[in-house]
Amino acid sequence: MSDREVFKITIKPYGASYHCYPGESLLTASRNSGLTLANNCQKGECGTCKVKIRKGQIKLAPFMLSALSMQEIDADYTLACRSTPLTDVEILVEMSGWPDARFYPRKDKQD
Ligand code: FES
Repeated sequence: MSDREVFKITIKPYGASYHCYPGESLLTASRNSGLTLANNCQKGECGTCKVKIRKGQIKLAPFMLSALSMQEIDADYTLACRSTPLTDVEILVEMSGWPDARFYPRKDKQD
């Protein structure tokens, strides 16, 4: 697989990044990388995985409007569990305060 078939996902403001294969969701790729984005239902119903797209393009699969409103879409928010990248993407993960983190390293991936 060439580098062009893998997209780089950068998490702001933390600067962490991971790779995502075409057709893979931002959430699944984050889990595979060990930088798991906050999530719950994993099917576009709860809104827990909401992130803001700062750069790049994504394809958004069907979801519940109770999880992500049209106003939020207009403001560049998306659901990581329903979003697949079409380019390299920069996402903003809003965090209200540690330990209520919006992403966290998987315990089984820590050294
Ligand atoms: S984890 Fe529930 S909407 Fe993504």
